[in-house]
Amino acid sequence: MGTSPKTLLGTKTVLGDGLTVSAIGFGGMALTPVYGAVDDAESLATLHHCIDVGMTFIDTANVYGGGANETLIAQLLADRRDEVQLATKFGINGDPTTGKLKARGDAEYVRQCIDESLGRLNTDTVDLYYMHRRDTSVPIEETVGAMAELVAAGKVRHLGLSEVTADELRAAVAVHPIAAVQSEWSIWSRDVERNVVPAAAELGVGFVPYSPLGRGFLTGTIRSAADLSSPGDFRSHIPRFTGEALDANLAVVQVVTSIADEAGATPAQVALAWLRQRAETLSVASVPIPGTRRPARVDENAGSIAVQLRPEQMAALETAGATVSGHRSIDPNWVSSARE
Ligand SMILES: NC(=O)c1ccc[n+]([C@@H]2O[C@H](COP(=O)([O-])OP(=O)(O)OC[C@H]3O[C@@H](n4cnc5c(N)ncnc54)[C@H](OP(=O)(O)O)[C@@H]3O)[C@@H](O)[C@H]2O)c1
Repeated sequence: MGTSPKTLLGTKTVLGDGLTVSAIGFGGMALTPVYGAVDDAESLATLHHCIDVGMTFIDTANVYGGGANETLIAQLLADRRDEVQLATKFGINGDPTTGKLKARGDAEYVRQCIDESLGRLNTDTVDLYYMHRRDTSVPIEETVGAMAELVAAGKVRHLGLSEVTADELRAAVAVHPIAAVQSEWSIWSRDVERNVVPAAAELGVGFVPYSPLGRGFLTGTIRSAADLSSPGDFRSHIPRFTGEALDANLAVVQVVTSIADEAGATPAQVALAWLRQRAETLSVASVPIPGTRRPARVDENAGSIAVQLRPEQMAALETAGATVSGHRSIDPNWVSSARE
């Protein structure tokens, strides 16, 4: 019998600024419908299961489900606030499912958003508060300065930044310690390795890879556009999930699947093991936040901690990932690489 998820998750990870979290976190976004239908009772069961097995670093944002995601997570926190390292975000106006989004980072908005999030989450403080996207019309010093005031006021314990460049990270760290950068990072999304991951490693800032399973694609469960046809599945608008790019990208998954077979693991576990080992090589403290609606997949994803890939398997995955077709974002200007 394999080692239990609870044992595997027994070792914690220290991100930046002394923030200690579970070695794998849980991404809550798809518990409100972005990748297909959800069932709140199952979602809540999944959240409780995460805490039961020690996947206690829970990620949400004010924009997910227009606040409904935070309200759902409040039901978990009602009984178990002390067991959770809670992360939420502010800074996106608009609707992530349509791609009509705008970043906002002025100080007044920061102060407004935290109070709204604390109200929905029904808690006094969040452990990690992220700027979700950079509003380039506002100096980052203003945004982070307003976030630092929230730490002083006890509303927030640590600060994070999502989809920032290395230069933006350096400017932010000059204002206040930053616990983590959260950006997309996986076998098929490696642009962050150029600048921001090395900067985080150098500055002692942790890294939280989002969409570590490639929004589900790297698990081998998406074979064609028909698998993205649930109402509101916004992956059907992302370039690499559409048309010829989707077909071409199946070759990447084939390599993940064959290495999973070799390793006696699942494709999701291989994707997460690759990320863990890559972060170790780059000397950055890193905690991915895979999301799932299903308790059994929480255990499967935790099982990645026991998977150790050989150097030639790492290299084969990197070669496959480099062949990816299509951008990772509906709007290429929406992610940090556009500002590098
Ligand atoms: N900062 C940002 O801008 C940003 C952007 C995107 C996401 N995020 C955060 O990152 C978190 C994770 O990213 P994500 O949800 O986009 O993508 P992901 O974690 O890479 O993939 C999630 C998808 O994979 C499927 N899945 C999960 N485990 C699986 C397994 N073991 N086997 C097969 N399929 C599996 C899930 O389907 P089922 O539900 O059916 O299991 C879901 O559709 C989000 O929840 C959110 O908190 C942040």
